[in-house]
Amino acid sequence: MATRTRIHVFDTTLRDGEQAPGFSMTPAEKLRLAQQLDRLGVDIIEAGFPISSDGDFEAVKTIAAAVRRPIIAGLARAIPADIDRAWEALSGAARPRLHVFLATSDIHLEHKLRITRAQCLEQIKRSVAHARALCADVEFSAEDATRSDLAFLCEVSVAAVEAGATTINLPDTVGYALPADIQKMFSTVKQLLGDRAILSAHCHNDLGLAVANSIAAVQAGARQVECTINGIGERAGNASLEEIVMTLEVRADALPFATGINTPGLVPASNTLSAIVGVSVPPNKAIVGANAFAHEAGIHQDGMLKYELTYEIMRPESVGAAGTRLVLGKHSGLRGLDARCRDLGHRLRQPELERLYVKVTALADRTKTVDDDQLAAIIRDEIAAPLAVSTVTASRRGDAACH
Ligand code: KIV
Ligand code: ZN
Repeated sequence: MATRTRIHVFDTTLRDGEQAPGFSMTPAEKLRLAQQLDRLGVDIIEAGFPISSDGDFEAVKTIAAAVRRPIIAGLARAIPADIDRAWEALSGAARPRLHVFLATSDIHLEHKLRITRAQCLEQIKRSVAHARALCADVEFSAEDATRSDLAFLCEVSVAAVEAGATTINLPDTVGYALPADIQKMFSTVKQLLGDRAILSAHCHNDLGLAVANSIAAVQAGARQVECTINGIGERAGNASLEEIVMTLEVRADALPFATGINTPGLVPASNTLSAIVGVSVPPNKAIVGANAFAHEAGIHQDGMLKYELTYEIMRPESVGAAGTRLVLGKHSGLRGLDARCRDLGHRLRQPELERLYVKVTALADRTKTVDDDQLAAIIRDEIAAPLAVSTVTASRRGDAACH
């Protein structure tokens, strides 16, 4: 395989993720998750927004003191008081980063900040220079970059780099962009800046495009992706870390990029976050959902039993999932049922298996799925008191369900 370019993973679960309603964490919980993110191998942990509350200040300070390998970032608006407070929280970090942001779209300048483009540019220069005087690692984010005028965004990016920014983040703050828009924005700014700064993508998921847009940004020159565990974040969330990382892993044939993520840590990190915030991921969530490696349809189960790659593009253990699950339901077939029986220690002859199949599908019609305890109970009853008559129609025996 050709050499893969390294992409830096900037995890903002503890900042943007935590901003989502119902997802706030105590400083102790944030520290626990930061330690898990460290084990997972993220390059940068955005630990919080220190000026926003004393609790967040404490959390950033504690994480900065305890978590020494990754860069620890603290967020600040482009004003001196914010930057100074963030720096105070970060000063004990082994590798601190000040993350300064200001909106650059006309919508935000006119209606939210009530400043002109010229004032915006001046504020960026002053605040980035202020941050750089404190810290050698400064990220500047042009909030609402994807709805900003591209020529102005270019001017802003150059000004921020000249004032000392080492990373330029171009967020899709409201999740509005299409992959083609992202491609155009990143390639234009990349051409302008060359290697003078690392370009970063920060995509929100309002249209469900956050991961696709992050990948488009990487293809157009971004070398840092900002994302969260389970995709949590403002409104519909941020780009999901596990989905970006596994897209780059699974499609390395088309995407010659690599992260430093220890991928078997993905499901454990997802579970830790769910346990802390008390919100589980939907079963169909890519990579970490309970059904990500579950198969119910008979044709799929038959394929999986013959060769796993028929219906799985990655192995469950590669992301830390328990394993493939063949779920017994009304769509299941004889081969899947036989495999479940063997897992439970029962090797049934064909007529017994067929009788059992009739029972199991009848139960699944009522209960949706049949778990191991239910299956064991049916086997016990079936073997102890076999049905007098049982028939399985050809179409049902043929593992016909296909979805
Ligand atoms: O979405 C956004 O624009 C942000 C910035 C503060 C980076 O979260
Ligand atoms: Zn954001």
